[in-house]
Amino acid sequence: MTDAGRHPNIKLYTLSEVIDLKGYVGNFEAKILKRARYVSDKDCTACGECVKVCPVVRPDEFNAGLSSRKAIYSPFPQAVPSAYVINIKECLGHNPVVCAKCSEVCEKKCINFHMSDEEVVEKVGSIVVATGLEPYDPTELDEYGYTRFENVLTSTEFERMVSAGGPTKGELTRPSDRRVPRSVGFIQCVGSRSARKGGSYCSNICCMNTIKSTLVLKEHHPDIEIKVFYIDIRAFGKGFEDLYGKSRSLGVQYIRGLPGTVIENGDGGFRVAVENGAAGKISFHDLDMLVLAVGMKPSGSTKKLQEMLGLQLSPDGFFLEAHPKLQPVDAATRGIFFAGCAEGPKDIKESVTQGSAAAARAIRLMHKGEMLSEPVTAEVVEDACKACGKCVEVCPYGAITADAKRKIPARVNPAACAGCGTCAAECPFDAIVMNHFTDEQITSQVDELLAADPESKILAFACNWCSYAGADYAGVSRLQYPPNVRLIRTMCSGRVDESFIWEGFARGAPIVLVSGCHIGDCHYINANHWTVKRVEKVRRKMEKLGIRPERLQLEWISAAEGTRFAAVMKDLEELRKQVGREEIAETVRILAERTKAKDA
Ligand code: FES
Repeated sequence: MTDAGRHPNIKLYTLSEVIDLKGYVGNFEAKILKRARYVSDKDCTACGECVKVCPVVRPDEFNAGLSSRKAIYSPFPQAVPSAYVINIKECLGHNPVVCAKCSEVCEKKCINFHMSDEEVVEKVGSIVVATGLEPYDPTELDEYGYTRFENVLTSTEFERMVSAGGPTKGELTRPSDRRVPRSVGFIQCVGSRSARKGGSYCSNICCMNTIKSTLVLKEHHPDIEIKVFYIDIRAFGKGFEDLYGKSRSLGVQYIRGLPGTVIENGDGGFRVAVENGAAGKISFHDLDMLVLAVGMKPSGSTKKLQEMLGLQLSPDGFFLEAHPKLQPVDAATRGIFFAGCAEGPKDIKESVTQGSAAAARAIRLMHKGEMLSEPVTAEVVEDACKACGKCVEVCPYGAITADAKRKIPARVNPAACAGCGTCAAECPFDAIVMNHFTDEQITSQVDELLAADPESKILAFACNWCSYAGADYAGVSRLQYPPNVRLIRTMCSGRVDESFIWEGFARGAPIVLVSGCHIGDCHYINANHWTVKRVEKVRRKMEKLGIRPERLQLEWISAAEGTRFAAVMKDLEELRKQVGREEIAETVRILAERTKAKDA
């Protein structure tokens, strides 16, 4: 942080928040709210005289509330800039100034109660989201007694306690009587891997954090009794298994099973009842202190930022990367990258690795000065556009602008357009051309594929990134599936225009399949949500026209699901056999009449 603060090319905004973001890769514009610190960071030398006289005492957040701070304070010892800040909500009053003791003792006259928040606009080419995480608050888990017993701590509180810079200068003491505990129990997975409370995901870092804590404790108090209650220990990183082994060899007991109850035994200690999964019996353990290894949650700002940046979240609430294997630091929106725990819980090493990768990705994008963009982009036919704004609504990237009130036709920003084609599929006036995947190109493919024996074919639209790759995987895996499937590739299932489906049925297809990435995995943020709506709409229309809606199928098949692709095709073949020639002929007749009526 100090290095970043000193770097000539880095502008560091502390106490600041991004409140609005516009633009696209290479041309983002961020509006930043810079909060007033009421202390001049240029003049303050952090001498501490103001802190001595401040009468307001509050729990110190950095020490997890185990110590106190004043209303004028330094958030933590290595804070950058090295200057104090006033929490104006806690200060006794600055308008009019009520106390002003800090101001009176400050020789350099750094304190200025008239400072106010300001808004700054910065133009940036790329963005790295590094919002970190928050520890789970175990208040709701009453069975562990966190709110009832003083000597039940969270792992974050314990971490501060055993830190040399912490409130007890690294001395392990029980909060209730300042006595060194003779035994300490650690309860793992508090707020993690639980569908009931907290998150259902593994928080990744708690096992190793506990193992590290046991080693620190054994180093300072070799005779201390330590018990770790766990579901299973996940020591999967380089050298981690050795640390686990070392902890066991030092006498730390690892007991498979989480406590059901924690009862205080009168002297500030506890009796813990555990169903020991390894021994197959209930065991009781008397401990002087309990540490809850709490899980990690996405940071509080995640949701707001996600909406502002138009990004996606995983079901766990962390940011979703563009691809879990191939683009693990990229957001689906070009020019935005993730570092550290914004994308999921990580330890220091992983966070550093991802942060370095995100910085490198951002630099690689920016250093050329100009960027190449894919030619697969949408283009508006201005004469046909009625400025209805549908394309603006469906574009996952905010790449289209239109002014319905002033009838200004839609405009696509090619640098922001990622080429999913949803706008072209949804445009009610056919006013958008999707380059390289035009209506004419796709309709011609449909016509050609169904030119001979259409009743024996299955017409399948497959998105480039998942279903088409799934078909490919089925092929290279030599999986058997019906040879009468005819695939048409689109970049996204969102590109599959209603007219392509009607064309398929009008040309005699017994079955039409639309397939794409699973919901939440679409390569174009949420474009396949529009696929679902569109397919449902077409099915309703089919029903009204007297065409069986089950002849139009929608399936999500990922790139790794070759087996599923083959299975889906076999099922569709069974379905196809149930569609007779008469039914197909009747559909062709109905659709021909419909077209005639439309044209008339
Ligand atoms: Fe596969 Fe959108 S990219 S459905």
